[in-house]
Amino acid sequence: MAEAQSLVHPVEIGSIRLERNLALAPMHEHTHLALRLLCRRQGAALAYTEMVTPEELLAPRGDEARGNTAAARTEALSRKAANILATSPEDRPLGVQLLPRDAASAADAVAMLAAGGRADLVDLNFACPSRRAVASGRGGAMLAAPGAALRIAEAAVRASPLPVTLKMRLGFAASEAGRAAALGLARGAAAIGVAAVTLHARTVGQGYGGRADWPAVARWAEALAPLPVFGSGDLRSPDAVIDMLRQTGCAGASIARGALGAPWIFRQAVALAETGTYEPVARRERRETILAHFDGLARQYGQSAAARSMRLLGRYYARGMPNAAAARADFQAARTAAAFRATVEKWFGEAIV
Ligand SMILES: Cc1cc2nc3c(=O)[nH]c(=O)nc-3n(C[C@H](O)[C@H](O)[C@H](O)COP(=O)(O)O)c2cc1C
Repeated sequence: MAEAQSLVHPVEIGSIRLERNLALAPMHEHTHLALRLLCRRQGAALAYTEMVTPEELLAPRGDEARGNTAAARTEALSRKAANILATSPEDRPLGVQLLPRDAASAADAVAMLAAGGRADLVDLNFACPSRRAVASGRGGAMLAAPGAALRIAEAAVRASPLPVTLKMRLGFAASEAGRAAALGLARGAAAIGVAAVTLHARTVGQGYGGRADWPAVARWAEALAPLPVFGSGDLRSPDAVIDMLRQTGCAGASIARGALGAPWIFRQAVALAETGTYEPVARRERRETILAHFDGLARQYGQSAAARSMRLLGRYYARGMPNAAAARADFQAARTAAAFRATVEKWFGEAIV
């Protein structure tokens, strides 16, 4: 597969050289350290934290840390911020994603992250479609205010010794003007030193429904070259990852829902690019992976919280299995760590043939 072979390759984001052009996308309440490590072991060359607002980083535990140095502020992080930023030596390079509303706090948050050695790059979320984000003038709302968005990006770039990247969508509105404004913002951002753009190829109004517009990824990649554009949207299988890279010519793939319950999607995409095929996942690996995922969450959040998370995550791990509906129902019903382990043994255990 000589053609496909070149589709997975190293890529540079500013000063950072990624071993390959496959990233784990940021996902709220999902891209904890535990999932990031599982995906990295399977070949994700970059992973992001979920989004966090600059205010959540900068105003920890009331104002006890106000006026202190960036390093002291890092010590005084709120529990939520500390959990989002929790990392380990294996968890590099790490992108921390900010959900900013104004230039001053974005710049302060970037400086704090850099001073604390907390991130290798900082990603600005100009994409989130949630009502809460949009109503507070953040995320996707930024695409409807490209002037303000560019000022935030510029302030972040100025304040940052680290590469600053953007997460964007096709536009706030689906109109030609809405789309042109978003691409114009990306062009402006490239000109002021943003190091890469990840494009989720849906409009803000589309939320997560409908099909991602991969031809638009191709247009952005061409229009913004040599700026690396990572494509996002509908990368639910190794085949989709390789198809998107092939069809769009973009610099890399940012894998989101496709990695939930399937961190091996990275390994399979690499195999597909290199050999034209990939191995299905054995039940034993599913079992080991879901247990490792639980253990990682339990180390950080405790057994009870990990068990709660696995009610949903277990359902993802059951995807594609025979009797998946029954397995999903069992995971959904498992409310304790013991019930979770029993469900794992029932569906993925050695006794199953
Ligand atoms: C549960 C969930 C949470 C997400 N949280 C974030 C987030 O915090 N920041 C962000 O930029 N994108 C977030 N996204 C969007 C993904 O990064 C990605 O762009 C999107 O899911 C499209 O890719 P997919 O269709 O392959 O899932 C989230 C998506 C999902 C499904």
